[in-house]
Amino acid sequence: MSLYITRRLPDAALRNIPADLTWRMWPEAGVPIPRAELLGAAADATALVTLVSERVDADLLAAAPALRVVANMAVGVDNIDLAACRARGVLVTNTPDVLTETTADLAWALLLAAARRVVEGQKLIEAGGWGAWHPLFMTGQDVHSATLGVIGAGRIGGAVLRRGAGFGMRLVYHNRRRSPELEAATGAAYRSLNELMAESDHIVVCAPLTAETRGLIGARELALMKPTAVFVNVARGPVVDEDALVAALRVGRPWAAGLDVFVREPIAPDHPLLGLPNVVATPHVGSASVQTRVAMARLAVDNALAVLRGDGPLTPVG
Ligand code: 8YV
Repeated sequence: MSLYITRRLPDAALRNIPADLTWRMWPEAGVPIPRAELLGAAADATALVTLVSERVDADLLAAAPALRVVANMAVGVDNIDLAACRARGVLVTNTPDVLTETTADLAWALLLAAARRVVEGQKLIEAGGWGAWHPLFMTGQDVHSATLGVIGAGRIGGAVLRRGAGFGMRLVYHNRRRSPELEAATGAAYRSLNELMAESDHIVVCAPLTAETRGLIGARELALMKPTAVFVNVARGPVVDEDALVAALRVGRPWAAGLDVFVREPIAPDHPLLGLPNVVATPHVGSASVQTRVAMARLAVDNALAVLRGDGPLTPVG
């Protein structure tokens, strides 16, 4: 039995690895393992710990005949061909729960920063643009007491909604299925996607990327938003038609956006989204607190170890 970890992880995540287990790890933290290297490393691996940067597809599975588990260090599993894993009897695990609150915090950071023009304000000061007092100088949009719409109301969406209560917001959500538990816990009301787009003062996208959600929000949906609305995406870039979003932001509908995820990551520095004054962008850091990244790494490794021991996986997908 052997474990291969596709990225250098913090030591704290490795401490449960038994002394008698054969294991290896790609030595770089900041450089993804080259595909050819991964295919070679997978050849004798019984367990793989992966990141979203690694594509786990039929080719990789074919190169890994002994593989029993792919333990992804992320809650999203859109980098993994789940059907191909199922067909080969390979278990897939992810890292839910440990990143929920941290990711919800970032959604709120982006919402507040975009609504209140935090980054634009700093750039203005740095450029010496802070002149005489003006009644409407750098005015933004209120977040408190507004209507918050969350698309994709799983764990992270629920945590974003709960924070809204503290800001005195009205809460609405859209999800594949209605969730009576979520409605009872947060007081949020269910809306169709169109209703939510039109009714919300601010919108946060938390839906996973699946065949159903790819391109879920396009020009038609964006055009339903209020011209004062802030649009936040902490899920996956392809859930939103990025070209349509650029066009919509150029005409100020939505009023601003806070984006942590993009169709292509890393996003090119000259991408049109980044040139817009009403965009606040972060480099896919939803779960990036020290505490949470260590917890995610540890959970991914522990999932792999649980399967190798013959116990069930701790947090299986599906
Ligand atoms: C990860 C994420 O940090 O969990 C996810 O799905 O998007 C982030 O929390 C990122 O994917 C790196 O693995």
